[in-house]
Amino acid sequence: MRKLHLVYFSPNHTTEKVIHASNQKLQFEVVSHNFTTSFQAFTPDIDDIVFIASPVYSGRVPDLFNQRLAGIKGQHNLSIVFVVYGNRAYDDALLELKTLAERQKLKVVGAIAAIGQHSLVLNVAKNRPNQIDLEQIADLSFDIINNLYNFKLNNQLHIPGKKVHSKAKRLSLTPYANDNCVHCNKCVEACPSHAIDQDHFIHPNPKLCIGCLACVNVCQHNSRTLSKAKAIPISFAIELASLKPKNIESFKL
Ligand SMILES: Cc1cc2nc3c(=O)[nH]c(=O)nc-3n(C[C@H](O)[C@H](O)[C@H](O)COP(=O)(O)O)c2cc1C
Ligand code: SF4
Ligand code: SF4
Repeated sequence: MRKLHLVYFSPNHTTEKVIHASNQKLQFEVVSHNFTTSFQAFTPDIDDIVFIASPVYSGRVPDLFNQRLAGIKGQHNLSIVFVVYGNRAYDDALLELKTLAERQKLKVVGAIAAIGQHSLVLNVAKNRPNQIDLEQIADLSFDIINNLYNFKLNNQLHIPGKKVHSKAKRLSLTPYANDNCVHCNKCVEACPSHAIDQDHFIHPNPKLCIGCLACVNVCQHNSRTLSKAKAIPISFAIELASLKPKNIESFKL
C-alpha cells in the first residue's frame, strides 16, 4: 500500500497538530517521523508521498530541523510542505522548506502556511490551530493530492519569499530554572537540542539552545523562565506585529 510519511519538528506541538490534520481525509497508510528531539534517517518507497511541517523561527526554518531533514533520502516522491507561524509572518520559511525538500530529492506539489499559538507570547494566536483551521488543512491537503493527475509536473510551484543563502540565526532567549524547580526533568526531555543537562541545568547550554521555549511551556512549576528584561520588549513587539488574525494560505502546481 502507498504510504504517507509525516515528517515534522514541533517543540510546542502546534506544528504536530497541523501535520496530523493533513492526512485526515486521505486514505494512505501513515508513517510519522517526529524529528523534534531526535531523528532517524529513512528512504520512502518510490511511490510514497512525503509531507514535511516546520514552525517558523524569525521568518526561517529552524536550523536544527534543516540539519535533521538531511535524513530523508527521497526518490522524487510527491510532497507537500507546511509551515506554522505565530500570526506575525512566515517571511521566507515556506520557500526555504520547499528548497530543503527539493534538496532531499522530493517533488513539491503543494505548500501550506498555517497559524499556530505563539510559543513566546501565548495570547497571540491563542488556541490556534483551532477546529476550523484543522478542517481547512485536511481539505486543502486532500485537494492537492486528489488533483495529482492534473498537475503539470514539469512546472515549478511558485511560493512567496526570497531564496535564503545563510544559516538561520538563533534568538538568544535561553530560559533559566528558578528556585521553584522540583527536578522532574520534563524540560530536559522536551528540549529539542539537548541544551539542558547536568552541566547546564539552571542555565541551558547557550551554544545549543534554539530559544524554542518548549522547556518553559512544559514546566508545571513556573520554574523555567526568561529574564524579564529580555522577554518584555520582545513580547511587546510580537503583540504589535500580530494584531489582525491571519488566514491559512495554500499553493499548488
Ligand atoms: C524562536 C522563535 C521565533 C519565532 N519566530 C516567528 C516568526 O518569525 N513569525 C511568526 O509569525 N511566529 C514566530 N514564532 C512563533 C512560532 O512560529 C509559532 O508559535 C509556532 O506555532 C510554533 O510551533 P510549535 O508549536 O510546533 O513549536 C517564533 C517562535 C519562536 C520560539
Ligand atoms: S520542568 Fe520545571 S520543575 Fe521540572 S526540572 Fe524543568 S525547570 Fe524543574
Ligand atoms: S533550553 Fe533552549 S532549546 Fe531547550 S527547550 Fe529550552 S528554549 Fe528550547
